[in-house]
Amino acid sequence: MEYILVTEQHEPFVALVQLNRPKDLNALNLQLMQELSEALHQLDKNERVRAIIITGNEQAFAAGADIKQMADRSAVDMLRIDQFSTWDQIRKTKKPLIAAVSGFALGGGCELAMTCDMIIASETAKFGQPEIKIGVMPGAGGTQRLTKAIGKAKAMELVLTGRFLSAEEAMGYGLVNKVVPVEMYLREAVQLGREIAQMAPIAAQLAKEAVNRSFETHLDEGLHFERKNFYLAFASEDQKEGMKAFIEKRKADYKGR
Ligand code: HXC
Repeated sequence: MEYILVTEQHEPFVALVQLNRPKDLNALNLQLMQELSEALHQLDKNERVRAIIITGNEQAFAAGADIKQMADRSAVDMLRIDQFSTWDQIRKTKKPLIAAVSGFALGGGCELAMTCDMIIASETAKFGQPEIKIGVMPGAGGTQRLTKAIGKAKAMELVLTGRFLSAEEAMGYGLVNKVVPVEMYLREAVQLGREIAQMAPIAAQLAKEAVNRSFETHLDEGLHFERKNFYLAFASEDQKEGMKAFIEKRKADYKGR
């Protein structure tokens, strides 16, 4: 891998994926996205991993899709290369994904953070969909996920003006889970990953799927889906262990089975 660094066991059961094109503010070129997609696919299958952190560096999570790579493309090139199809793998990741964001999270960078399940931000984080300023628009979920996260009025403003949101504003709008000083954002994200990694992995997967379903369907169908997943959790050994541990007043030892 050239543009990402993967640390499988950053903490027990927590993997860290770092975007690593610092000179270009982690601009998301095709190769980086392919590497990220492949890494997530592998980590998703890895039984020693229960939560995944995606991060950049202090200056930038990612400043968007690589403008230099895209600038001269035709619509037919875009269709043929279909670079956003690599994003589907990120969306399909079954394990909890946490974005640890410092500095710029713009365009595709903001979309990548929003594709994760939770966002921990440093005080220096700046979120935005500035594609309008370069004659295009969000293309990897920005118009949909930002709108669902912060509501139509604010999303419309950000998408149509390209204005950046400070971490504090992003917190106020419910886009991020937590804002912490810059020296703590990664540690905080890892701590959240560690907490989730102590839970039963199958239950976490079923729960993530059910929460995500609420964005895709109406209430009746969503409740039905949730109930099925709840019942399915009883097929796991971890459900027996979790309930037994509660009754025996001890800490559960989950095996992911
Ligand atoms: C390619 C980029 C880049 C990008 C920054 N760089 N963003 N290269 N694609 N998206 C490169 C710069 O060209 C420069 O390299 C180096 O990173 C440092 O950037 P500067 O502009 O010198 O830094 P600064 O003055 O601090 O400004 C930071 C910035 C600005 C505000 C983040 O770089 C910026 O506006 N970037 C573009 C943001 C953007 O429009 N993102 C949306 C992209 S479209 P050199 O070698 O030239 O010095 C998109 C579509 C999404 O994301 C579709 C789904 C994927």
